[in-house]
Amino acid sequence: MTPPNPNFSDYGLKASDFGPDFIWGVSTAAYQIEGAYNSDDKGESIWDRFTSDKKNIHQGQNGQIACDFYHRYREDILLMKSMNIPHFRFSLSWSRLMPKGQGTLSIAGIDFYNRVIDFCLECGITPWATLYHWDLPQALEEKGGWTNRAILGWFETYARHCGQAFGDRVKHWIVLNEPMVFTGAGYFLGAHAPGKKGLGNFLPAVHHTTLCQALGGKVLREAVKEGVIGSTFSCSMITPYSRKKRDLMAAKKADALLNRLFIEPCLGLGYPTDDLSILKRMEKYQKVGDDKNMVFDFDFIGIQNYTREVVKHSFTVPYLRSKLVNATKRNVPTTLMDWEVYPKSIHAMISQFNAYKGIKKLIITENGAAFEDTVLNGHVDDPKRLSYLQEYIKEVYRAKKAGLVIHGYFIWTFTDNFEWAEGYYPRFGLVHNNFNTQKRLVKTSGKWYSTFLEGH
Ligand code: NOJ
Repeated sequence: MTPPNPNFSDYGLKASDFGPDFIWGVSTAAYQIEGAYNSDDKGESIWDRFTSDKKNIHQGQNGQIACDFYHRYREDILLMKSMNIPHFRFSLSWSRLMPKGQGTLSIAGIDFYNRVIDFCLECGITPWATLYHWDLPQALEEKGGWTNRAILGWFETYARHCGQAFGDRVKHWIVLNEPMVFTGAGYFLGAHAPGKKGLGNFLPAVHHTTLCQALGGKVLREAVKEGVIGSTFSCSMITPYSRKKRDLMAAKKADALLNRLFIEPCLGLGYPTDDLSILKRMEKYQKVGDDKNMVFDFDFIGIQNYTREVVKHSFTVPYLRSKLVNATKRNVPTTLMDWEVYPKSIHAMISQFNAYKGIKKLIITENGAAFEDTVLNGHVDDPKRLSYLQEYIKEVYRAKKAGLVIHGYFIWTFTDNFEWAEGYYPRFGLVHNNFNTQKRLVKTSGKWYSTFLEGH
């Protein structure tokens, strides 16, 4: 039986209630959607290498084909247009543009992004490009990747090439995507590419990333006339497990690590060493002048929020002495990622970032949820995702009404895609993708988003 036509009129909010300048969009990333992992002269990235070891990824999956966006970008952008989505955030693949990370530029790579950008503009969709969404060229990883200070030079050249090649048409830029996640999961826990572990990798990676964050901003500002330059930060509301002193301390440390580590140096506040003393060990990697070179006055800051974390003291966790209490043990609603559904978290993070002086604009550059989806008679009804998005957007509205500064909101993500170490099972899309046939099917949540955006 075909489900009845969805009736969205009872939501009560429209995009226009957020004002005419509020930015609405969807976010994606190269490795998660493009596929064509070795087409033309594309070089190997750390994610190509990491996924080649099947143990690293759920069911040994990889992004070799993913959503085949490389070949299907026109169809996807047209679908976006038909869904009234005005802004599209995607990332540039460094190893597609510079196969060895340095040196020769790939004509095919530049052509591909030119076609994507031009087609967005033709469709009236504003392109937002992220320079780095986790897929470092493997050739650079072989030289130490983010742990090698030489990355400052590599990244500067890459950023300049991107700005010069696309900056005449792309005005909205994001330097890094979630530095905490790619340094933490990739260089401390070893759960993401390149699979490195320990403080000896993590601390230099953090410091060089912080420097590149500012450097990338400066380069883009020079290279892109009238550019709007930002960077994005993962963040979660932190709730102490109890009012006991040691749980309060644990929560403070987790907040310093998960929410403050990368934004504060860029605002000129330095690393949050007072609340997280282990960061003092970073001095070893710092040079004279670095303090100043970590600072950049971004035109906007992107925050990415999905959930909150409940944190308690732990005697066994080294350095941090804090641990997260799994949502599944707390008897709360969760998504397929086992993340708590907690809409107030997004409001709390807007408020926490509003408290910083020096942030000119704040945009939610990612928010969304993975739930189990089933195709039934050619439809995907996804009430849980729909309600998640509606409740989180309502909190953004409440934050705005309460006088907090917030300028935009992007849903993660457009089509279901490759969710890193989790492979393809967590589906975050507004649009269902059949990975065997590459057939796209707009879910109920996608239909709702397009109704919500109508007339904006
Ligand atoms: C953060 C990352 O930027 C994105 O790549 C990822 O897929 C989503 N969040 C969901 O986990």
